Amino acid sequence: MLGWLTTTDHKRIGLLYFWATLVFFGAGGVEALLLRTQLARANEHVLGPNMYDQLFTTHGLTMIFWFIIPMTTGAFGNYLIPLMIGARDMAFPRLNALSFWVFLASGIFVYVGLFLGFGLAGFEPGDYTLVLHIADEVRGESREVNEAFTIVSAQG
Ligand code: HEM
Repeated sequence: MLGWLTTTDHKRIGLLYFWATLVFFGAGGVEALLLRTQLARANEHVLGPNMYDQLFTTHGLTMIFWFIIPMTTGAFGNYLIPLMIGARDMAFPRLNALSFWVFLASGIFVYVGLFLGFGLAGFEPGDYTLVLHIADEVRGESREVNEAFTIVSAQG
């Protein structure tokens, strides 16, 4: 375990990217399903406008910056290119490892932001956040976004 956390080996870093990006791909996939469910018929009220915008922004960002790019350059690039050119490792193995951990932290940061609503995916503090949305769903209340916005603003 510690070996994986502290590794500077290009193959291991490639595998770390591979599994981490797959998790982000799954999250982006869940977001796509939510978007599609909202758009399945006209006038659905699955998400609400603000929640739709947050999920669409996070879906687009995730698929490009936490899936496609790190999967190609991070996972396949790291694993294969040193093998293909006959090098022992990447040029700066510790910098390579740092890149992975910064990448992982950035993705976690965005998702914590999505759930807590601190303004990364194009919404403002005080907006109707995913945590509030889920709480409403659990209580079986499907509140209108504007109403929720007023409640949250009044509390803040
Ligand atoms: C690797 C990149 C991407 C993948 C694999 C992907 C995958 C998907 C999938 C499977 C759906 C559901 C399809 C459907 O409902 O018919 C979807 C929906 C959607 N995606 Fe992406 N997506 C990617 C990138 C993006 C980007 C970059 C954006 C915008 C910035 C975006 C915006 C949307 C929107 C708005 C929807 C809902 C539209 C709809 O369901 O008709 N996606 N995506």
